Amino acid sequence: MANTKLLYFMLVAILLASVLEAKNQNETHIHFYMHDIPGGPNPSAVRVAGQTINATGPNMGAMFGFGSIYVMDNALTATPDINSTLIGRAQGLYAMSSKEDELSLLMTLTYNFVSGVYNGSSISVVGRNPVMDEVREMPVVGGTGVFRLARGFALAKTYSMNQLTAIVGYNVTIIPYY
Ligand SMILES: *[C@@H]1O[C@H](CO)[C@@H](O)[C@H](O)[C@H]1NC(C)=O
Ligand SMILES: *[C@@H]1O[C@H](CO)[C@@H](O)[C@H](O)[C@H]1NC(C)=O
Ligand SMILES: *[C@@H]1O[C@H](CO)[C@@H](O)[C@H](O)[C@H]1NC(C)=O
Ligand SMILES: *[C@@H]1O[C@H](CO)[C@@H](O)[C@H](O)[C@H]1NC(C)=O
Ligand SMILES: *[C@@H]1O[C@H](CO)[C@@H](O)[C@H](O)[C@H]1NC(C)=O
Repeated sequence: MANTKLLYFMLVAILLASVLEAKNQNETHIHFYMHDIPGGPNPSAVRVAGQTINATGPNMGAMFGFGSIYVMDNALTATPDINSTLIGRAQGLYAMSSKEDELSLLMTLTYNFVSGVYNGSSISVVGRNPVMDEVREMPVVGGTGVFRLARGFALAKTYSMNQLTAIVGYNVTIIPYY
């Protein structure tokens, strides 16, 4: 009797393990580079609201544009080269959400894919982005198309940054809905 129970539990455990393994196999990993161009003649991110920035004023937060809101439509490419294969576009808002001497953004974005099997599908990302940290993690809260009802997380790492443009590498892990 005891042996039958043991066998039963082992069977359940094996089944569970194989289901988990199957799920892991369908985990989607997407890698791309985002081009954020807030300056220059053809910006991809524009400031639409916020208080006047006074770099010499007493409010450090103001120096980092605390309260500013930007709208972006950033290209997502296969390599750091802006002219490499276009994977998609990141469209949405980000807000300068840190008052302290740290640059932190609230990201509310959709990443819409235009190539490969993800063409026409999108993911939605909402989260805190302390841009000076080496790696930032942001939750994937949902999606459309093949990513309908999906969840996951995005890891972002700045590849290069100058006054006109920031190139940010993304590794996104997406778990589909079953
Ligand atoms: C994983 O994806 C394949 C092909 O899209 C599908 O046949 C399979 O049922 C999926 N596995 C799970 C656990 O949903
Ligand atoms: C910026 O702040 C400094 C120090 O408070 C002040 O003297 C200056 O007038 C301010 N400049 C502007 C443009 O508001
Ligand atoms: C990308 O292509 C444009 C237009 O062909 C060109 O002006 C630009 O210099 C290229 N950029 C890079 C980084 O190669
Ligand atoms: C993506 O889908 C659109 C609309 O269906 C289509 O016009 C386009 O050619 C597709 N692009 C790629 C790279 O498959
Ligand atoms: C993404 O993965 C690649 C390859 O594993 C790694 O070199 C890179 O640092 C990762 N980037 C992020 C933002 O995690």
